[in-house]
Amino acid sequence: MRVGIIGCGYVGLTTGVCLAELGHRVVCVDNDEEKIKKLLSGTLPIYEPGLDKLIKKNKNKIKFSTNIKDAVVNNEIIFICVGTPSNPDGSPDLSYVENVAREIAKYLDSYKIIVEKSTVPVETADWIKKTIERYKKNNVEFDVVSNPEFLREGTAVHDFLYPDRIVIGVESEKAKKSMLRLYQKIKSPKIVVDTKSAELIKHASNSFLATKISFINAVANICELSGADVEKVALGMGLDKRIGKDFLKAGIGYGGSCFPKDVNAFIWISEKLGYDFSLLKEVKKINERQRELFIKKIEDTLWTLKDKTIGILGLSFKPNTDDIREAPSIYIIKSLKEKGAKIKAYDPKAMVKMKQVFPDITYCDNPYEVAKNSDCVVILTEWSEFRKLDLKKIKNLLNQPIIIDGRNIFEPQKMTKLGFVYKCIGRK
Ligand code: UDX
Repeated sequence: MRVGIIGCGYVGLTTGVCLAELGHRVVCVDNDEEKIKKLLSGTLPIYEPGLDKLIKKNKNKIKFSTNIKDAVVNNEIIFICVGTPSNPDGSPDLSYVENVAREIAKYLDSYKIIVEKSTVPVETADWIKKTIERYKKNNVEFDVVSNPEFLREGTAVHDFLYPDRIVIGVESEKAKKSMLRLYQKIKSPKIVVDTKSAELIKHASNSFLATKISFINAVANICELSGADVEKVALGMGLDKRIGKDFLKAGIGYGGSCFPKDVNAFIWISEKLGYDFSLLKEVKKINERQRELFIKKIEDTLWTLKDKTIGILGLSFKPNTDDIREAPSIYIIKSLKEKGAKIKAYDPKAMVKMKQVFPDITYCDNPYEVAKNSDCVVILTEWSEFRKLDLKKIKNLLNQPIIIDGRNIFEPQKMTKLGFVYKCIGRK
């Protein structure tokens, strides 16, 4: 099939490249000229494992352009994959989606399916439909479909090709048939529902996962106060099939481009529809408090922070990505700096991006350089290379053998045996 993708961020690019891998012909469009220039020269503007290989493999089936017209004309299915960032009041900014809908309307020349892939509040498909109706120049039919993405950064390619489910929100048989054909090669369950339900599935899923994380973080705090071990509690809870073991990892809270924004948007749309989703407000509060408590943990261990050197390991919001959007590290570094600490940091992928946020901290080439002459090491992202550190070497390089671990990557008993003061989350 012939597919147009509008927006070449994590979602758009992964969708486009994976659809080419499924055998479709794809035109990927973005209004960022630099991004398209990079893509045309074979460089990826983002780090996503496996994506570079697939782009090379399918290069004959993928075209790049800065002109929306190229995504619309001659294509049967057009995906909207532009950003829906949060406004200051938590509502999603849908102006990019609206602009794209107007542009699509301009070039609509035959029946087409317009698919919203970006995460949007319930009823957005109706708005896209109204907008295209209003601005279309030719009297042609079209359908709007909601097909939310559930891609995790770092495993996006795998998540696209082997998803737990594919959700398709449609209002016509014709669109349903085409969408099922598009995903024919993917063997996962396909759920075909109305557009509103599809839109809600996305917000409800992400908000539920965020709730799980805040829940286990709250339990971790009770563990600390009572002397229990959150890792053992999570294991015992997770073996109950109704609960499940995933997303029960206590830490410094969730970040990233999705959870914080989607929880905000779901609170906002619920309120707009007349329901106070107070549970989600608490989920958000617990997430923010988790970072505060972690900073307090650092202070409780080091006492005053003024002129102390704190070595940070991990800056991205989670491992295997260079993404620092809403990363807890940004909040924590900012606060430590305000308290007078000097920061040294290392991350395998995210330092280039973090330099734009904090140009004035010291970036190191490896974890050992971070530890050298620092007053403690703080772990903020659970990159697998940190699990393999030569801890004896780290201990010798530190001013004091202190590790404060926001991701529970080491065993406390083993660390104490090695002579560390080791503080982690929800366990002693
Ligand atoms: C998420 C959803 O998983 C995906 O379905 C959606 O489409 C986009 O948002 P992503 O943002 O890439 O994907 O990250 P994810 O792996 O879900 O992790 C989100 C955050 O939660 C990270 O900051 C992570 O550190 C944190 N997390 C996750 C925990 O703190 N504990 C856990 O048990 C799991």
